[in-house]
Amino acid sequence: MTYSRITGTGSYLPERILTNAEMETIVDTTDQWIRERTGITQRHIAADDEFTCDLAEHAARNAMEAAGKTKVDIDLIIVATTTPDRIFPSTACLLQQKLDIHGCTAFDVQAVCTGFVYALGIADNFIKAGSAKCALVIGAETLSRILDWTDRTTCVLFGDGAGAVIVEASEEPGILSSHLHADGSYEHLLNVPYGVSNGLDKLKAGEAHITMKGNEVFKMAVNTLGRIVDETLAANNMEKSDIDWLVPHQANIRIINATAKKLRMNSDHVVMTVDKQGNTSAASVPLALDTAVRDGRIKKGETVLLEAFGGGFTWGSVLLKM
Ligand code: COA
Repeated sequence: MTYSRITGTGSYLPERILTNAEMETIVDTTDQWIRERTGITQRHIAADDEFTCDLAEHAARNAMEAAGKTKVDIDLIIVATTTPDRIFPSTACLLQQKLDIHGCTAFDVQAVCTGFVYALGIADNFIKAGSAKCALVIGAETLSRILDWTDRTTCVLFGDGAGAVIVEASEEPGILSSHLHADGSYEHLLNVPYGVSNGLDKLKAGEAHITMKGNEVFKMAVNTLGRIVDETLAANNMEKSDIDWLVPHQANIRIINATAKKLRMNSDHVVMTVDKQGNTSAASVPLALDTAVRDGRIKKGETVLLEAFGGGFTWGSVLLKM
């Protein structure tokens, strides 16, 4: 049987760091409030001339280098993003051009903060079906571009960045299962209420921003992520103690701690980047994964649970052996 396995990871964060202290000068907030309610101390913000595809390119090149792959090896590119550079071509096609890759399948996935988990699940299915052998899967965002910088309830939470993985066909087990869900009936709790087809004038005026009922999203996230942990373990006939690492979506330290508690997992087996990066939406899971692979915490052969929850609502998990 052919499996798909992650053979390299990469990531990129824009140079500019926006600290909570600076946030205090932008909106009516305090470093203490942000840290206590979210765990965030700073986030990275893309430069004016830096776009989602630029962040994706840095992360992609890092992952290709880590996996020892060149442009001729890649036969599938999937970019998960909520903040594409253009309406079209897709960010995946723009990235393909930057990487000088020609002819392979390339497309974007839009599942907001669950985007990378969706993209990884899709790549796994392409590889298992024999439709690809070496996929480049990326989560990349410039969330700072769709924030209302006068709304303290949202602008303190998000940041920009990109993370990438190379997924290859393998005889050795890698991705064990993926579980992808959505329920569009919750769209009113977390959304950008305008787009190209509906509200182009608002888009042009720069008034298309993230709106969120934070408290309700928080409760849904905690409950839903608890359920996805159960679903994933049951599908793989595993116990909580079989998981070596939790690599969660980085939205809020309190949401992450609730999932870790559900898994009865010590915080030293939970990868946490939200403090330094904020919520980078589709980029957060691959950024966290790359951090823990590069600093040597996550090792080959270990069992890793990736999970995410986001606008839509969408939610999902990928269980894998590194
Ligand atoms: N600084 C200071 N005060 C703030 C603030 C800020 N940045 N943002 C909100 N507040 C205030 C509110 O106005 C409210 O004041 P009030 O009691 O006088 O009305 C108070 O803090 C409590 O607000 P509340 O929304 O109940 O706080 P909370 O504990 O739920 O924390 C979030 C808010 C957004 C941090 C939290 O709900 C959250 O993380 N939700 C999930 C967000 C998320 O994960 N979104 C993405 C999903 S992928």
